[in-house]
Parts: sequence; C-alpha cells; structure tokens
Amino acid sequence: MPSDLSFHIREATDADLVGLEWEGEYSRYRHLYQKSMQDAKKGRRVLLVSEAAEKLIGQIFIQLNTIPADPLKLPATGYLYSFRVRPKYRNMGIGTSLVRRAEEKLRQLAFRRVLIGVAKENKGARRLYERLGYKIFAEDPGKWSFIDDQNSEHVVNEPTYIMEKILSGP
Ligand SMILES: CC(C)(COP(=O)(O)OP(=O)(O)OC[C@H]1O[C@@H](n2cnc3c(N)ncnc32)[C@H](O)[C@@H]1OP(=O)(O)O)[C@@H](O)C(=O)NCCC(=O)NCCS
Repeated sequence: MPSDLSFHIREATDADLVGLEWEGEYSRYRHLYQKSMQDAKKGRRVLLVSEAAEKLIGQIFIQLNTIPADPLKLPATGYLYSFRVRPKYRNMGIGTSLVRRAEEKLRQLAFRRVLIGVAKENKGARRLYERLGYKIFAEDPGKWSFIDDQNSEHVVNEPTYIMEKILSGP
C-alpha cells in the first residue's frame, strides 16, 4: 500500500448507496443506509465517505441529535456511528481524518458535544477515540435490531461504552 495514498472526504449521495455495501459485505445494512440517506436529505444526519481512486474506502455517519443511551440528553449533541475503513486502508490516518471532519462539520452546525458508542471489546477503536480526546462517560447494553436486505430481522447484543467529547470553540 503506498504511503502517499491520496484520498478525499465528502458527503455521500444516493449514488454511493451501492458502494457503501462494499461489494456485498455490508448488504445487510441496505435499509439502514437508505434510512440514513433519507434523514440526511432532511438535515437530520450527515453521511461522510472517504474516497480513493473513485472507490469508497471509509465512512462515518453523524446523527444530529442525541441517542437514548445518553443519560444527559443534552441538545446540540452529535452521535457518530457506522464508522469504518476498508482493512487494507487502515492505519494510514483515514479513520482519524474522518472523525476530525465529522467534528468540523458539527462545529459548523454549532454543535459542541459529540458522542460515539464503542463495543467494550473493540480496544483499537477505543484507543483511537481516546487519542482524539474522547472519554468514556456511560455504558449501554448495546441491544438493537435491524432488518437486513432479505427482510430478516437481526438482534445485536454488543455491550458498549458511550464516549464523549466537548468540542472547543471555532
Ligand atoms: C476503527 C477504524 C475505523 C480506524 O480506521 P483507521 O483508518 O485505521 O484509523 P487511523 O489510521 O486514523 O488510526 C489507526 C491507528 O493507525 C495509526 N496511524 C495513523 N496514521 C498512520 C500512518 N500514516 N502510518 C501508520 N500508522 C498510522 C494511528 O496512530 C492509530 O494508532 P492506534 O491504533 O494506536 O490508535 C478501523 O480500524 C475500522 O474500520 N475498524 C473496523 C470497524 C470498527 O471497529 N469501527 C469502529 C466502531 S466503534
């Protein structure tokens, strides 16, 4: 993998819905992606993708309101989710750039608080968030469900830390 990989980050469009499935690996989330895209058009979410050589190599989504697992339920809180980078592009700073770009977007929208949920066993992602200034402030059983592209329901149980960061001013 070249160390001088050139990638850029932009907001996703309808044309990216297929690419977000990573050639079938994430087809199970098709309905979730479609719903996220609909919400993005209504200004409720922001979907960021990183692209290299016209291929989607990473993504981070922002929900522009807080989540049920947030004990404080404060306004102007953004929730980061669906964060991932293709395996062969990891450890090159793309994930860090995606989180930073999401924070920049939230600052532009005058949001000052960011949350992210991380599976308790996902130590690598947690280390990345801690390096970027996030701190654990709540726990959640991480129980949720979704309907996949074949219309089957999946229940997920993933005990999670909720991490928080207060953004500095402009
Ligand atoms: C979590 C995830 C998105 C991080 O993406 P990434 O692009 O690898 O992130 P970065 O490259 O910015 O940072 C990862 C590590 O590489 C290091 N790094 C950053 N730039 C680097 C570079 N140019 N050269 C070498 N290492 C670098 C970082 O310091 C970091 O080190 P750390 O593990 O000690 O914290 C990615 O691992 C992933 O998709 N994981 C699977 C899905 C997942 O767990 N998502 C999070 C759900 S909460």
